[in-house]
Amino acid sequence: MSVRTTPAADHVEDVSPGRGTLPPRSWYASSDAASLSLNGRWRFWLSATADAEDDSFAEPGYDAKGWAEVTVPGHWVLQGHGAPVYTNHLYPFPVDPPHVPTENPTGDHLHVFDLPADWPADGEAVLRFDGVESCARVWLNGTELGEFKGSRLPHEFTVGGLLKTVGNVLAVRVHQWSAGSYLEDQDQWWLPGIFRDVTVLHRPRGAAGDFFVHASYDHVTDAGTLCVDSEVAGRVTVPELGVDIATGEPVTVPVEPWTAETPRLYDGVLATPGERVPLRIGFRTVALEDGLIKVNGTPVLFKGVNRHEWHPERGRALDLATMREDVLLMKRHNVNAVRTSHYPPHPAFLDLCDEYGLWVIDECDLETHGFVEQSWRDNPVDDDRWTPALLDRAARMVERDKNHPSVVIWSLGNEAGTGRGLTAMAEWIRGRDGSRLLHYEGDIDCRDTDVYSRMYAFHDEVERIGRGLDGGTLKRRELPFVLCEYAHAMGNGPGGLADYQRLFESYDRLQGGFVWEWIDHGIAHPELGFAYGGDFGEELHDGNFVCDGLVFPDRRPSPGLVEFKKVIEPVRIEGDGAGGTVRVTNRHDFADLSALAFAWSYQVDGETVDAGPLPVPVLAPGESAEVKLPEPGPAPAGAETGWTVRALLAEATAWGPEGHVVAWGQVPVTGRVASSVAASERPAVSGGLVRLGPASFDARTGALRTVGGVDVTGLRLDVWRAPTDNDNGAPWQPDARYGLLWRELGLHRMRHRLDAVDLTDEALTVRTRVAPAAVDLGLRTVYRWTSDGCRLKLTVSVTPEGDWAVPLPRLGIRFGLAGADEVSWFGGGPGEAYPDTRMASTIGRWRSTVDDLQTPYVRPQENGARADVRWAELGGLRVEGDPAFWFSARRWTSEQLDAAGHLTDLVPGDTVWVNLDHGQMGIGSQSCGPGALPQYHLRAEPATFSFVFEANG
Ligand code: GAL
Repeated sequence: MSVRTTPAADHVEDVSPGRGTLPPRSWYASSDAASLSLNGRWRFWLSATADAEDDSFAEPGYDAKGWAEVTVPGHWVLQGHGAPVYTNHLYPFPVDPPHVPTENPTGDHLHVFDLPADWPADGEAVLRFDGVESCARVWLNGTELGEFKGSRLPHEFTVGGLLKTVGNVLAVRVHQWSAGSYLEDQDQWWLPGIFRDVTVLHRPRGAAGDFFVHASYDHVTDAGTLCVDSEVAGRVTVPELGVDIATGEPVTVPVEPWTAETPRLYDGVLATPGERVPLRIGFRTVALEDGLIKVNGTPVLFKGVNRHEWHPERGRALDLATMREDVLLMKRHNVNAVRTSHYPPHPAFLDLCDEYGLWVIDECDLETHGFVEQSWRDNPVDDDRWTPALLDRAARMVERDKNHPSVVIWSLGNEAGTGRGLTAMAEWIRGRDGSRLLHYEGDIDCRDTDVYSRMYAFHDEVERIGRGLDGGTLKRRELPFVLCEYAHAMGNGPGGLADYQRLFESYDRLQGGFVWEWIDHGIAHPELGFAYGGDFGEELHDGNFVCDGLVFPDRRPSPGLVEFKKVIEPVRIEGDGAGGTVRVTNRHDFADLSALAFAWSYQVDGETVDAGPLPVPVLAPGESAEVKLPEPGPAPAGAETGWTVRALLAEATAWGPEGHVVAWGQVPVTGRVASSVAASERPAVSGGLVRLGPASFDARTGALRTVGGVDVTGLRLDVWRAPTDNDNGAPWQPDARYGLLWRELGLHRMRHRLDAVDLTDEALTVRTRVAPAAVDLGLRTVYRWTSDGCRLKLTVSVTPEGDWAVPLPRLGIRFGLAGADEVSWFGGGPGEAYPDTRMASTIGRWRSTVDDLQTPYVRPQENGARADVRWAELGGLRVEGDPAFWFSARRWTSEQLDAAGHLTDLVPGDTVWVNLDHGQMGIGSQSCGPGALPQYHLRAEPATFSFVFEANG
């Protein structure tokens, strides 16, 4: 017997975009027409398959009392129904397009609503869905309206004739999997649900339909030309410009242009016979000229981030406050561009980009990455049957977002291979909107695009591209270059940002890049802190690869963002102290320095002793000036002195308070002189202990026991760090997976062989060999202790033996202290730093608790080192280094940190473990990019370094 599948299930596997929806049009948040938000609590019923239930739930009068409730917008899997699934590029179902599994979680949603009392009786109404994953079938008052796919795109239905004053029943059936899922294989959680707003919009007779605001800027004449094409004719007014024109009629007037740095918007109104729609008009012209992306005639440098929509509790259902928080955080960290990876964002986000000023690459909701597993065979983008769906997605993006000045580039999608469907999208977009450029990274020859775009290209290749030595098609060689993704911000990192920035600033063709990515997609979890892939029992998953952002899931900036802010600062402040001047360079593309005030401060041994304002000329973009600093005040002999110069917001702006630090630089004056300790004290043995100055040692092992009454445990050489995600690297770069290579070599289980404890008149010398089992390489390590009576000096000499083919994770000493809590130090701070992530580390005096020294990477790993530390005080001890050292302290060992899978696995003990490192391995970004550059490698080489200990207080 053969059973026909129900029509309910048929549309799920239909490759067409849907039926019943209105043609796409420009999105706008408000007008004087009535609207009704249907966001709120909805009735919800989850079925395990697409056809488990018939359609009777959509009938008026259906009794849904036994149903659960969910919040719309939202994802049901984050509201206690089913579970989220994380895969990077693998489809979590068998690949057999357009078929989806029989197990297809299906959420029936019901919402009963009344119209407001003043809802106009005449005219039409539309029902708008701003985003539903992955497809929806919709009924109103028992009448089926249609169905649609395209999760992060708007869909509207006409509903006027169906609406009642009270008791409207809206029924929406949402399937987790549909043919559309094959086009939505982005690296993120699979999160079904009605996750963006649902609204009923009144459409009065003569309401505005679609309209296209064309607002260009001529940088030669400083004139803006405005023309609003409108489906429904009307008038356009811009009072500030004295503009009052008919739709379709161009007008040219003097204007101030819109740029991301100077986001000048003019308020206008489009008035059709039935509706007044507020417009926010930004005049700007985007062009590809002389092989460069120019806005208003000037090449731009993208200092960008890739932004997925994310909230740790609500997934991709973002409210306006969260969107604004993203924009404010970006602006305050000098970010000037966003790629909306990998789908058009909530439309309100683009309003914010217009208002606060961010360049936007708006990307279509398209990724078919999982087909790479079968060498792209059957890829929908190269199969004409899918082309209508692709064109529908392109049109829904362009029509919705075309009136945003912030959108300067359209992107066809991400990691979808190549094919005719992409070309069709490109042709359609060009035909509809010739005022923006086209991007698609997968188009390696740039057949359809205007920008040569790559992801994760290494520094040396980027330099070749900058020099024009990379070859490629004739067309590509003439195009500008952007890194649409680089600097993979997974866990500790990314390293090497400054090295990229130097390249971007050196070669015109390199127009910057977009860090991958903005936010960690960790899910708030009662037992785990933040959950990642695998934490919900997924059968296939990619672990914490979903946590690779510059901000933590709760939007606290990670050290990576602080570093990025410094690296991309729009004002460069530098100098070597010679001549008493500092060099200030305006690195904006458009803005002069008039919004900034400058301030100097003078430090003696890290303490600020004097400060004042610094007059700096109003430099145009690209200009520099040598600015005279005041005469430095007197400082004690041997003191380390230097200037710190800051560029601050002179007045509050829309995105930052007055005094907000935009850029800074430090200029050393006199260098540091490390303390010298005369070896005047003689070690003495008594009662099983060696006494030397303030310290006691175990006489048999030479192990340090106390310094000035403070107990010290387990002081010894340490080379292990809990591998970072970048240390662990990616499978496609087996030689750079240092975390794995270190572990294979046994650096996490070093043995410390005691060879000799020597006492002389002036020193206690402990000779050891530190090495892992099973191999013949090792580190001869000599600890030489001397004292001048009150201070204790340790000099560590390390001589590698054998063939060290890998760099070391770290090289230094570690020891345990009881009862340490407050830490203060003179050196780099306030945040963590590593050899290739140290630009933001500011030399000064800093204080912290041990707990606050920790960086809460979602998957615990090495973190929290402070760079260039001259001295540190904690737990009653003061330690000074010669040379300066890397300092870390934590309430667990590196081994415990290494073993932890989530933050909640880290249980503080009574001992604080302190690492004083002579060297740290660079960080790199090889979790999906280049490793630490050679100059940041910590090679196993002979090394000598020393520390002076004394009791403090
Ligand atoms: C890229 C991709 C992103 C993300 C990243 C790694 O290939 O476009 O979506 O997966 O790699 O985190």
